[in-house]
Amino acid sequence: MARYVINGGRPLRGEVHISGAKNSALPIIVASCLASEGETVLENVPHDGDVGTICLILRSLGVELWFDAKGRLHVKGHTLKAHQAPYNLVRRMRASFYCAGLLLARLGKAEVPLPGGCSIGSRPVDFHIKGFTQMGADVYIEHGFMKASCPKLKGINYFINRSSVGTTINLMIAASLADGTTVLENCAKEPEVVDLAIFLNGMGAKVRGAGTDIIRIDGVEALHGTEYSIIPDRIEAGTYMFAAALTGGDVVVKDIVTEHLRSPMLKMEEAGIIIEKGDNAVRVTAPNGLKAIDVETTPYPGFPTDLQQPLVAAMSIAEGTSVIRETIFDRFRYVDEIRRMGADIKVERESAIIRGVTQLTGAPVEVTDLRAGAALVIAALAASGRTEVYGLEILERGYEGMEAKLQGLGADIIREETETVTDIFSQVETINL
Ligand code: EPZ
Repeated sequence: MARYVINGGRPLRGEVHISGAKNSALPIIVASCLASEGETVLENVPHDGDVGTICLILRSLGVELWFDAKGRLHVKGHTLKAHQAPYNLVRRMRASFYCAGLLLARLGKAEVPLPGGCSIGSRPVDFHIKGFTQMGADVYIEHGFMKASCPKLKGINYFINRSSVGTTINLMIAASLADGTTVLENCAKEPEVVDLAIFLNGMGAKVRGAGTDIIRIDGVEALHGTEYSIIPDRIEAGTYMFAAALTGGDVVVKDIVTEHLRSPMLKMEEAGIIIEKGDNAVRVTAPNGLKAIDVETTPYPGFPTDLQQPLVAAMSIAEGTSVIRETIFDRFRYVDEIRRMGADIKVERESAIIRGVTQLTGAPVEVTDLRAGAALVIAALAASGRTEVYGLEILERGYEGMEAKLQGLGADIIREETETVTDIFSQVETINL
C-alpha cells in the first residue's frame, strides 16, 4: 500500500518522455505467444503493473520470458504449454482475457476466468465469446471460468455489436491461426488495434484493414517470433498535457505520435490550451487559463474515455460550466474524490456538469480506478496545499514512473509506503481483561 504526498501550486516545467502504450503492450505480449518458433523481442514496453501481471500469467502457462538490461522483453512463445489461466492473477485485470484467444488458437483449448464487474461498471465479454463460438469453439461457463475447446478454429464473418477494442483484439489473435479467412465488421479503430495488426504481420500473419471498420484476417499455419517496438501511450501523453495546462506550466511532452491525439488536442485548444506541435513532441502552455468546454467520449478517433478523468480535473478550474458526457463506461464514481478538493461537479446520468471554481484545495483522496488516479494527481498538482493520494497500486497499473516524471517537471511529489495490516495491529495495545 502506498500514497503520493503532493504539495500543489507549482507550474510544471521541462520535458517529459512518454512510455510505450500499456493497452498496446498487453495484447502484443499475449500475441507473441502465438509463435511456434523463434523468439520475440519487444522494445518500448512500459514497466507498469498490468504489464507485470500479464508476464506472470504467461509464465504460469509455461512461457519463458524475461526483460534484458535494456528493458526489452524477450518472449519464447513456443514454450506455451498450459491452457488454464490462474484466477489469482487474471482477476487483477480484464486484458487477461486476451489469453482466451491465444490459448484457443495455439492449444485448441482454454480455461480462463471470466472477468467480473469492476470499478468502472459492468464490462461483459459476450461479444468475445460469441465470436469464439462462431469460430467453432465449444464454449461453456463453469465455476466462474470460460472453458472452451476447438481443435482448429475456422474463419468467420462477424459483425461486432458495438465498436469494442477488446473483442476486435481477441478475435484478431484467435483468427490469425484459424482455418480460412475471418472478416470482422464494425471493428474498433484505436491505434492499439493497428499496432497489434502490424505486429502480427511481422510474425507472419495476414491481417489487413486495421484502423478501418473492416479487418480481414487470412489464417496461416504457423507464426514466428519477431522484433517490434510498441507505440507511445497516447493516454499517458494526454494526461501530462492536461497536467501542464492545469498547473499553468510549460511542458514539452515528447516521444509521442501526435496523430493519435488529434481529437483530445482539438478539445484542449478549444479550452484555451496552446499546443505547439512538432513531429513527435508537443509543447503545452495555457497562459490565459482554461475555458469550459463540452465533450462526449466516443470510440477512436473521438475523445477517449481514458482521458475523460484528466479532462474533468482540468474543467474543474476552468472559467464557466462544462458538460462531459461519458458514453463508454460507468466512469464517474471518482468525482466524489475531486469534490473533496473543492470541485463543483454534479453527475446526472451519463454526464458530469462541472462549474469551474477558481482554486482547488489539497485533501486526502482515494484512487478508485486507474484513470481516476491520474485525474486526482493532476488536480493535486494544481491545488493549493497538501494532497495525499491513497491507493497507488491502482494508479501504478498503467503509469510508468509517474513520481519520477513529475519530479523531473518540478513537482513537489513523493511516494510513501502506508501501513500494512501488520503495522496497524502492531499499534493496537493488547489489553488483558
Ligand atoms: C479497452 O477496454 C481498454 N482496455 C480500456 O482502457 C478503454 O477504456 C476501452 O478499451 C475503450 O477505449 C484495454 O485496452 C486493456 P471495449 P475494453 O471492449 O476492450 C461493451 C484503461 O484505463 N462491451 O472497447 O474492455 C463495453 O461494456 C482501460 O486503460 C460489451 O458490451 O473496452 C463498453 O461499453 C479501462 N460486450 C464498450 O463495449 C463485450 O463483449 C466498449 O468496450 C465487450 C465490450
